[in-house]
Amino acid sequence: MLASTMGGMKVSATLAINQELLARRQAGQPVLPMGFGEVGLPVHPRLRHALAEHAGRNGYGPVAGVDELRTAAAGYWARRGLPTDPAQVVAGPGSKALLYAVLLAAEADVALPAPSWVSYAAQATLAGRRVWHVPVEPGQGGAPDPARLAAMLAEASAAGEAPRVLVLTVADNPTGRVVSTATVAAIAALAEAHDLLILSDEIYADLPHDPDTVVPSPAWFAPERTVVTTGLSKSLAVGGWRTGVARFPAGARGEALRDRVLTIASEIWSAAPLPVQHVAADAFAEPVELRQRILASARLHGQVAASAAARLRTVGALLPDPQAGFYVYPDFAELAEPLARRGITDAAGLSRWLVDQHGLGSVPAPEFEGPVDALRVRFTTSMLYGESDTERLASLQADDPLALPWISAQLDRFSEALDDLLGSP
Ligand SMILES: Cc1ncc(COP(=O)(O)O)c(C=O)c1O
Repeated sequence: MLASTMGGMKVSATLAINQELLARRQAGQPVLPMGFGEVGLPVHPRLRHALAEHAGRNGYGPVAGVDELRTAAAGYWARRGLPTDPAQVVAGPGSKALLYAVLLAAEADVALPAPSWVSYAAQATLAGRRVWHVPVEPGQGGAPDPARLAAMLAEASAAGEAPRVLVLTVADNPTGRVVSTATVAAIAALAEAHDLLILSDEIYADLPHDPDTVVPSPAWFAPERTVVTTGLSKSLAVGGWRTGVARFPAGARGEALRDRVLTIASEIWSAAPLPVQHVAADAFAEPVELRQRILASARLHGQVAASAAARLRTVGALLPDPQAGFYVYPDFAELAEPLARRGITDAAGLSRWLVDQHGLGSVPAPEFEGPVDALRVRFTTSMLYGESDTERLASLQADDPLALPWISAQLDRFSEALDDLLGSP
């Protein structure tokens, strides 16, 4: 049974590239860590102190999470136009575990935007579910093109298949784009018509580069059929603390799904780490100093991602401006000829060349889109902020972080690798 669902699966592509770069670094070789989606920023002192304060809490606590966290998360969502009862909230050891639990609990095949985060398809496969990739509209990210979604649903239904879960990522990884409100509304209407459950991964929602960007939640439009997940790994750079929350729809259907997720949680992680839950309760209450930290991070991510995008365009890669988070997803389609002269004919070959020749990490398109003949790779820009906490704090505080020597040196190395890739062999 295990062999059939895990056939061909391997360690998650992003973690694998992280391990490879780590080994290269330990061997004294230069690396440019643009593969793994981690945030190289220091833990805010308020969070450090809160963790120390709660370190003595060593009980398991309730499966759904402590009241303090569920109440704070409910307030966080209410401030984003989603009135929430704490009973609708479940805490977990990272939003990744919660996403998997929801996919398991939903017991249905899964529609995914192409591209979308690597783990959704892998998790659906682990859950024994079929994945349907649906392309996003040009320039959008994190949600499928509604017309193509409708066509896919019709095709599936004609074949007697029924994908009943749709995952959206608002704002998106890998494209760094924020889907338009109109597209989200159109998708919500389709979800209604086809009885889809929407799983909206909003872990990057607090990181728009321009704070005025609207980051639309599908739960605004289809509250009775949307589960929202988020966490602190990206906004507050505490990925290693493993903390996340899910918001289930109000009403009988949402409660039934939540109860199934609680059953799964009780058999897999029991409860999220208790001291971290208390820190997360403080963070989701959004004290002003943490809000300011998140705003400063988003600004820094925006400046560095925009520079990486500009450097990619200089060599002829195509990509829309990144709008949120810390990823760029360029298309090298126009550069197929010079790449072929390097012996590179697909995205995996491109990623491999960059890591072998320059220690430059990236993740190739098929990880995000399924089998696809495309010269696209994702670069992460959030690990370029310095080698020490002192440098990283200075990066956060700088008016012009691109002028800091440690950031400009990394971005220049990125350009050198791209120039070398596309120059004469
Ligand atoms: C789109 C997306 N969702 C979820 C996660 C997982 O986050 P967490 O640390 O909360 O498990 C990531 C992390 O890379 C991500 O990029």
